[in-house]
Amino acid sequence: MIGAQTMKNVMVISQDPVFLDKIDTLRSRFTSFSPAIVTSFEDAITSFATGTYQCALVDNDLYDNPTIILFFQDIKMLWPHVSRVLVLGQDQSMDLVEAINNADIQRILNKSWDLEKISAIVSDASEAADVWQELKKVKKLATVNNQELLVLNRLLEDQIITQTDEIIKINNLLSSSLFATVRAFSQAVEAKDQLTRGHSERVAQLCVEIGKKMQLSQEELNGLYIAGTLHDVGKIGISELILQKNGSLSDEEFDSVREHPLIGYNILNPIPFEWHVAKVVLQHHEYFNGKGYPYHLSGDEICLGARILHVADAYEAMTSNRPYRKAMSIQGALDELERNSGSQFDPDVVSLFTHLSITQFGKKN
Ligand SMILES: [Fe+2]
Repeated sequence: MIGAQTMKNVMVISQDPVFLDKIDTLRSRFTSFSPAIVTSFEDAITSFATGTYQCALVDNDLYDNPTIILFFQDIKMLWPHVSRVLVLGQDQSMDLVEAINNADIQRILNKSWDLEKISAIVSDASEAADVWQELKKVKKLATVNNQELLVLNRLLEDQIITQTDEIIKINNLLSSSLFATVRAFSQAVEAKDQLTRGHSERVAQLCVEIGKKMQLSQEELNGLYIAGTLHDVGKIGISELILQKNGSLSDEEFDSVREHPLIGYNILNPIPFEWHVAKVVLQHHEYFNGKGYPYHLSGDEICLGARILHVADAYEAMTSNRPYRKAMSIQGALDELERNSGSQFDPDVVSLFTHLSITQFGKKN
């Protein structure tokens, strides 16, 4: 029989003995079909509130059309899962369009239909109610799952923020440890060569000023600072007698001093700096015209960092006091840089350097 097993929890609202007799016959045929029968909308509302109905069969003879429409609207609002079926009398002519549009009636059943048709419609209505309730459960489950996902997302976001903060702190700590180590290393070298105390730090600062003017990245500026601070680290391998000698050096002594870029390179090369610090240190005495040392590189063969460092190193040395000479004036040093621009120094770096504000040089004398 058509959908008999799904005909459950049906409420019939009617006072028509003929129609109720048909319902009775249906009940006797299907043991699963045990409808509740009420004779007024008032009783129907009370029963809906206390039971779990899936379908409402409303006899059109019971009330006038506007009252029936209001009843269906109430059912839809209060128990939207309940299928709404209107049962028409044999010769009734209720305005079907109005009923469907205003009361959202899902089925209209004629009392003259045979039992097969009545049971089929009631069964369909019950199935629709089941589907509606399943859908409601799925939606509720999806909402719960979504809320759980949102909570997990928030937890994950908090975790990422915390971990990122920790990474930033560790990075800052590592970074300041690195710069402190670099400065300590530089001071150890300068302790050996008292004549140039503070020179490396000032050269490093000048390198950074030039780098900023060239709009180099923060990573490149950090590398320039480290290279500037450690550019003469190779002097650690040169005899103090030569480094602190008053008076001119012999050719042999000069050769020894000229080894310091390569010694510095060998010291720094194993350290995994973010930038090519060791290479800059190796090339910081190369001349733009190829007449420098240790490899007589020229022009672009010399890396930009080394060309910057060479200018900063020379300027700092010229404007510093030495036991055997007085410091050159700032203007005198700049003139000297320009005089050797294109031969000893990269002309672009010199041009940019001479246009830097003199106050930026932070001179000590
Ligand atoms: Fe040097």
